[in-house]
Amino acid sequence: MSAAAIVPDDEPTIAALLAARPQLRMHAMDGLVLEEVPLARIADVVGTPAWVYSAGTMRARLATLRAALGGVARVHYAVKANDHLAVLRLMAKGGVGADVVSEGELRRAREAGFAAGDMVFSGAGKTAREITLAIAEDIRQINIESAEELEMVSALASALGRTVRVALRVNPDVDAATHIKITTGTAETKFGIPYGEVVGVYARAVALPGVEPVGLALHLGSQILSTAPYRAAFACAAELVRALRARGLAVRGMDCGGGLGIAYRDEAELSPVALAGALRAAFGGWDLELMVEPGRWLVGPAGVLLAEVVRVKSGRIVVLDAAMNDLIRPALYDAWHGLVPLAAGDAVGMAAPLDVVGPVCENSDTFARGRFLPLPLPGARMAVLDAGAYGAVMSSTYNARPLAPIAMVDGDRWAVIRPRQKLADLWAGERVPDFLGEAP
Ligand code: LLP
Repeated sequence: MSAAAIVPDDEPTIAALLAARPQLRMHAMDGLVLEEVPLARIADVVGTPAWVYSAGTMRARLATLRAALGGVARVHYAVKANDHLAVLRLMAKGGVGADVVSEGELRRAREAGFAAGDMVFSGAGKTAREITLAIAEDIRQINIESAEELEMVSALASALGRTVRVALRVNPDVDAATHIKITTGTAETKFGIPYGEVVGVYARAVALPGVEPVGLALHLGSQILSTAPYRAAFACAAELVRALRARGLAVRGMDCGGGLGIAYRDEAELSPVALAGALRAAFGGWDLELMVEPGRWLVGPAGVLLAEVVRVKSGRIVVLDAAMNDLIRPALYDAWHGLVPLAAGDAVGMAAPLDVVGPVCENSDTFARGRFLPLPLPGARMAVLDAGAYGAVMSSTYNARPLAPIAMVDGDRWAVIRPRQKLADLWAGERVPDFLGEAP
């Protein structure tokens, strides 16, 4: 009997998960193959847990996104989704700009080859040091999150004798209907300037030295699966542009943020064509330069996390060697990620409801509860799907677990793009102060 036959109706089968992901296929001999490389071969070399990214998938998704938005909006890749230098290089070569939120991201993006003029700096708590760097680098624009930040940017730029382009991030009070922890467009959150205050702050920006207001920005949240929240927020932004222009204030651009959701389970991902339609409907004919800042949509489906089964407990609990310190999304957002065995033989057979967990000492260290999978044996390996966004970037070394290695596949080639962190490196920077004395 195949697994497909007894999996409950509401849960995608392994076959269905693979059918929806053209970059992955199950080969009778080689097992799970990403592009042209069997994942077991990579796991044999680098061990588990390990991340694997598909360069071809990132490139293909970037091409799809750019085709949908061509002539409609400029794309700035949200570096936070996956900030590995190789990923950033691929994006820079793909002709998009970068959306950065810290000095580290700005420097990483520069290191990978992004021009400063192709960068937007977002974030609710930019420090004076970060703002000064952004001004010195002459980045494309700083997205301002508050009236207080505007004053600081003006003062810092003036002191440097510079003028920096700024956009005001609007808080439109629109619920993106996503997880509360990744909602950023409602009034009670820390993000943006309340829409009722935007015209006043914009007028202030026009009067201040050191800043040139070039438009507005917004970002509603992440993993958004419908255009409805975008339409509502765009309507609010369009109203503000009308009000600003009615006062004779110049508004050149509109940064519409990121948030495009992907299909983790059996949802329909938000198509960039639909987003382009919403952008055209709201801003067509307005003489506005539009921008978007997607992260997850470009890289999420391009990554997997490989893990090995350490133990099978009571025929029901499968303990992996990967954990919440590697991929925190299930623990933090109750996120659903597909699980697929690496060996073809493990992908068929009787499926049973299993709890798939990590070894970390918290109940939240759970990848899936009651998931219908063929019961694996210790030593079996599996891939956690759609781990390319907010995966390795959110890893920690909790429980003194070293950061997992990363490999990148491109067609039939692959390379290790970050080796496994050495255990001794975990404490290499730590110092025991003299006043604690010698070891007993
Ligand atoms: N622009 C701004 C201002 C943002 O804050 C974000 C994401 C993006 C763009 C990119 O959003 P995306 O297109 O990737 O949805 N760790 C969470 C997601 C946090 C998103 C934070 N901001 C997760 O794993 O689901």
